[in-house]
Amino acid sequence: MRILGIESSCDETAASIVEDGERLLSNVVNSQIDIHAEYGGVIPEIAARSHLEVINPVIKKALSDANCTWDDIDAIAVTYAPGLIGSLLIGTLAARTLAIIHHKPLYKIHHVEAHVYANFINQQSGDLSLSLPKKQPLFPLLSLIVSGGHSQLVLFKNHGDYQLIGQTQDDAIGEAFDKVAKIIGLPYPGGPAIAKAAELGDPHAFQLPIAKLSGEYDFSFSGLKTAVLRAVQREVGKDFTFPSHELPGLVDDELRHNMAASFQYTAIKTLIDKTKKAFDNFQPASVVIAGGVAANQELRRQLRESLPIEIEYTPIQLCTDNAAMIATLGYYRAQIDQPANPYDLEVQPSLSMTVV
Ligand code: KG4
Ligand code: ZN
Repeated sequence: MRILGIESSCDETAASIVEDGERLLSNVVNSQIDIHAEYGGVIPEIAARSHLEVINPVIKKALSDANCTWDDIDAIAVTYAPGLIGSLLIGTLAARTLAIIHHKPLYKIHHVEAHVYANFINQQSGDLSLSLPKKQPLFPLLSLIVSGGHSQLVLFKNHGDYQLIGQTQDDAIGEAFDKVAKIIGLPYPGGPAIAKAAELGDPHAFQLPIAKLSGEYDFSFSGLKTAVLRAVQREVGKDFTFPSHELPGLVDDELRHNMAASFQYTAIKTLIDKTKKAFDNFQPASVVIAGGVAANQELRRQLRESLPIEIEYTPIQLCTDNAAMIATLGYYRAQIDQPANPYDLEVQPSLSMTVV
């Protein structure tokens, strides 16, 4: 079964074809990062307009890269939740129209659940040369989902059968990376910029707090972000009233590198502590990480060190937003769900994973 996946929930316009929920035939991602970097974050109206401009060529390229015509496609899978409303609308309208014109079943996909399914891709066709896991994860599967909008631990008993066991009480971890990057004068997106700066810094230069929460598997990152702000204000000789947007001009390279390393170390440790606790309690057969922050090498290193289980990581291109994960989940959803009605599929910008 070949599924065309379409993704447009935030600032990546993507289309991909995946066979039988494991074989990647094409993976096209048009990123808007350069457009939004100028503003230091995603501007929703600009994102929607950019999706509209590129969605048709992106889908066409996904078909031609996979050497497929519409006759070779068995179904369409599209992200309908969660995300920016204008962005979601472009992808779903394209998918609905194509499903009607080409008489294909349409499956609606939850973006956050799909991030986990990037880990199920273990084969690829000729031209692609990603370093993929050798086998698919086993159930019960513990997944740590860490992106710009989400930080959660989800236990999958089977496809479509999962339980949210912990989540952030405030900021998502990717959001914390992005905000801290702004404070210390690093560009958007903050995650990769902090990871790079951290290589030159001392992770123990600053003692930053790990939040204590009542929920056993919950996270919190907003206190950590504030602790970074206060420490930077102090280091440059200012008090807490000093505006954060004026700080980057006063931060030198040594402070920038040390703060990036200390923040990254503490933020990742917060994730690892809870993941380890969940692993010990639920004894899953596999553990995967998913979402943009799963690209972080320090996270990969600390997780490998702290869990007594072999972990195969999916390549970075499949951690950040893409449509391969949408097409992959589409395959498993097609086994358990009825297709959506292409005439009335609606987007759900703030649907959480607990109610899918
Ligand atoms: O999953 P994603 O591409 O989009 C959302 O669904 O949110 O995640 C984007 C987030 C951004 O906050 C970005 O800063 C972060 O992932 N990110 C990273 C790294 N690469 C991307 N965070 C830490 N380390 C990285 N190497
Ligand atoms: Zn995402």
